[in-house]
Amino acid sequence: MSKPQVFVTRKLTNEVIAMLETVADVKQWEEDTPVPREKLLEEIEHADAVLTMLTERVDEELLARAKKLRVVANMAVGYDNIDVPACKRRGIAVTNTPDVLTEATADLAFALLLATGRRVTEANRFLLAGEWTSWSPYLMAGQSVYGATLGIIGMGRIGEAVARRAAGFNMRILYHNRNRKEEAEAKTGARLVGLEELLQEADYVVLLTPLTAETKHLMGAYEFSLMKKSAVFVNVSRGETVDEAALHHALTTGQIWAAGLDVFAQEPVPLDHPLLALKNVVALPHIGSATIQTRNEMASLAAANIVAVLSGKEPLTAL
Ligand code: DGY
Repeated sequence: MSKPQVFVTRKLTNEVIAMLETVADVKQWEEDTPVPREKLLEEIEHADAVLTMLTERVDEELLARAKKLRVVANMAVGYDNIDVPACKRRGIAVTNTPDVLTEATADLAFALLLATGRRVTEANRFLLAGEWTSWSPYLMAGQSVYGATLGIIGMGRIGEAVARRAAGFNMRILYHNRNRKEEAEAKTGARLVGLEELLQEADYVVLLTPLTAETKHLMGAYEFSLMKKSAVFVNVSRGETVDEAALHHALTTGQIWAAGLDVFAQEPVPLDHPLLALKNVVALPHIGSATIQTRNEMASLAAANIVAVLSGKEPLTAL
């Protein structure tokens, strides 16, 4: 009997490929750029399993071409690139990579919070441009982090991990979430509040909610208008949770003080995007979980999910 076929949409390590080869014949897109859509549509016809990145859309068009697909293993915790109900209707398992990226993503969220509040990248550019002529009392003065109020929108695993870090900075922590998180409250002193209260009170607002129909443009003109003029907004979820035009307006009219963005509605964000021209924006190329160790763990978990399904077992982290 011929072995099942796995298609891997990006170059991963030999170790991960070896894991998959214990149960299947593996083909991978050897480039470090997204697999062209046409190629993916071709490959999906023969695939029993596909290991995807957040750059691949798994939608009706793709699923219609799949003849024997049993599992889609996304190498990300977010899965807004996948039509999960459409997969389920066809009996195709969908998995993501929770937990293994929690701490790395919380580190990056906190790095972005600090860099934005304390103007780290702006100050670095200022120095390199030769503009540093003397020490001065308010040169590159930012906003205090220690003891400030943090508002976390979306208190999942990553939200909790951000709150743990904030507790070390003696921050007052407010959060907004569908349900109460008693364990996080006990560990960090975080308090559940309504979205409006959070936006009005917080010095730092960190957005961590997944992208769904309900959270699209969750942060719009009204929400930014509630924030303090001195507040910093950080987004490490998905670009489309924010109305970018409204954010640009808030940043350029002094409604809010600065923004740290790891994600954009269009990625890679075009260099002529108006947000990138602003000094009070720290922009990163979607690197929330990008540590070598974490990316290895994410790839291994995605592969382990495929191995489980192709061996007739339950996936480890099914959606
Ligand atoms: C995720 O996992 O959803 C991140 O955005 C990519 O690491």
